[in-house]
Amino acid sequence: MSAAPVNPNKALWEKGDFTRIAETMRESGASLVERIGITKGLKVLDLGCGDGTTALPAAKLGADVVGVDIARNLVEAGNRRASENGLTNLRFQEGDATNLQEIPDHEFDVVVSIFGAMFAPKPFDVAKEMVRVTRLDGQIVMGNWIPNDPTLVAQILKISSAYTPPPPEGFVSPMTWGVETNVIERFGAAGVQAENISCQRDTFVFTFDGTPAELVDRFKQYYGPTMSAFDAADKNGRAAELQKELEELFNHHNTRTQGTSIPATFLRVTVRV
Ligand SMILES: C[S@@+](CC[C@H](N)C(=O)[O-])C[C@H]1O[C@@H](n2cnc3c(N)ncnc32)[C@H](O)[C@@H]1O
Repeated sequence: MSAAPVNPNKALWEKGDFTRIAETMRESGASLVERIGITKGLKVLDLGCGDGTTALPAAKLGADVVGVDIARNLVEAGNRRASENGLTNLRFQEGDATNLQEIPDHEFDVVVSIFGAMFAPKPFDVAKEMVRVTRLDGQIVMGNWIPNDPTLVAQILKISSAYTPPPPEGFVSPMTWGVETNVIERFGAAGVQAENISCQRDTFVFTFDGTPAELVDRFKQYYGPTMSAFDAADKNGRAAELQKELEELFNHHNTRTQGTSIPATFLRVTVRV
């Protein structure tokens, strides 16, 4: 019997332990769900939810939240956090943003995907699925990193990709979700008029008790895309160069003298279905 084929999208996110990065994103996650109007009783899907950076505070606001993520380890971590917090209105399950076959049409008032669905392949399928599971007159909110933006995450991904072998032909970069015309085209193909889509720049702040260099180490040990870059750089004898580039980047953007606090710009997309 042959083994099931590896899904590289799933393997990338199960490779590390994104919970160790998500720990540095909690304050911004909580602040974002308040700003986008999550309130008690709303049915919310958090897609590409990780261990619940936005799903958990949304449940604390009283929404009924389902978190869906492709990485089994993150779904398990999310369910642990829900039970540690005594939240019976929050559950996490495995699923793929390109095909949410387990979710009926128009199931949710709000679909949130903060740096989540952007990492799935087949962006047109992802837009179609997000629209399908949102109720009519409901809302989709995506947070997407912006290509070539000078701030932290866009630069980590840019630097990392320069050390990683080129992706297979036909691969669509996740960063293309950070371009407004692509967003309009993808949701347009899913039946949403352009006037129902708005994009604005927003900020997520990464906060960490250690130094910027220690935060680089955390990305190196636990963040799938950076781990892959170091694997490839190691093979070419370029790991020290990669480390130096990342340390310069983190130091440059750190706004604190004690500990680390680094703001990163993203595109906040709001879609009225
Ligand atoms: C950068 S993390 C963000 C996690 C979380 N939203 C947060 O802000 O902490 C990206 C997440 O997207 C998930 N993901 C990637 N591809 C996915 C897919 N095809 N379907 C569902 N989740 C996916 C990853 O497993 C990971 O948890």
